Amino acid sequence: MIYFDYAATTPVDKRVIKSMIPFLNEKFGNPSSMHSFSSDTKKALEKSRSIIAKAIKANPEEIVFTSSATESNNMALKGIAFAKKSGHILVSSIEHDCVLNAAKWLGKNGFEVEFLPVDKYGIVDPKEVEKRIKKNTILVSVMHVNNEVGTIQPIEAIGKICKKNNIYFHSDAAQSFSKTPINITNIDLLTISSQKIYGPKGAAALFIKDGVKIEPLLHGGGQERGLRSSTENVPAIVGFAKATEIAISTMDKEQERLTKLRDKIIEKLTKEVPNCYLNGHKTKRISNNINVRFSHIEGEAILFMLNSYGIAVSTASACSSPKLEPSHVLSAMGLKQEEAHGSIRISLGRMTKESEVNYLLKVLPEVVKKLRDISPHK
Ligand SMILES: Cc1ncc(COP(=O)(O)O)c(C=O)c1O
Repeated sequence: MIYFDYAATTPVDKRVIKSMIPFLNEKFGNPSSMHSFSSDTKKALEKSRSIIAKAIKANPEEIVFTSSATESNNMALKGIAFAKKSGHILVSSIEHDCVLNAAKWLGKNGFEVEFLPVDKYGIVDPKEVEKRIKKNTILVSVMHVNNEVGTIQPIEAIGKICKKNNIYFHSDAAQSFSKTPINITNIDLLTISSQKIYGPKGAAALFIKDGVKIEPLLHGGGQERGLRSSTENVPAIVGFAKATEIAISTMDKEQERLTKLRDKIIEKLTKEVPNCYLNGHKTKRISNNINVRFSHIEGEAILFMLNSYGIAVSTASACSSPKLEPSHVLSAMGLKQEEAHGSIRISLGRMTKESEVNYLLKVLPEVVKKLRDISPHK
């Protein structure tokens, strides 16, 4: 099988696994204990925090470890909302479901929630943010890179507007962290995740800028400065830090390599396959994402047929794939239901080779032709 679904999750790098093993074996102590068993784990935990903080030019005390991007996003939205007690929250309409559904839940529980529109490329206009800010706005949440169409949002400009208006700004960087630079100057809360960067599942973090007050969601032993009680998942956190080090040190080269492969796929498909169009922006796009639509056929049919040729791609984001509803991201971008349904996401990663891309480019046009030949929609 050839894997083209790195935006859903990544395999764990062997160097990451090696770094984790001692913490699954002899270095098992609880970092909060007082005896010698805890000293190695406590040191490893704090070293990991420093590595991750350095990667985004933050201070270690500004990093709170969580179990997933979903948890970090819930912590950001609900944590700010509960601390402020009431107010207006602005969220982009193309966020991952964990942000959208957390915001909708807050909407049902006394907060005023508004969704920001996007243009045909899936980009939020900072002017729209400014226009919608009200006296009682407490938080704006706009993701850095969209997980379905890969568009890079103007978070620096949006952050500036929020800062000017004294409003907290949260950004979900699960798809961009260590893949493209992130400037946290005007960001108050940032979500990052291990499982998208060749680290293990079960580790993620929320950057919370010094001075930003949030209400914890988990109450207990007071770990993570009281913001996230639970014994820290040290093996996964150590792996997350190792994955961060590797990804940051290879970021520029990898971005360049993947951008070339990405553009080769986009160019070939949109030029050589009739009625094939790119979803999202051509250049304001993360280096590993391709999202294309084919008229008259279903994305799911393409996915299943490609799977039979040994190629794994996805339709919408992996987590919402089984719903078989048109993607909320593509719908927000103005695509008609039938256009959205004919879309697939191809996402590249560290192990993607040019020969695999060539195989995809040979097989995919054939698959599209076969499906169109039997399509009732022609
Ligand atoms: C942008 C974004 N945010 C959040 C998540 C949720 O990640 P997890 O399922 O690891 O919590 C994902 C996963 O696909 C994502 O792409």
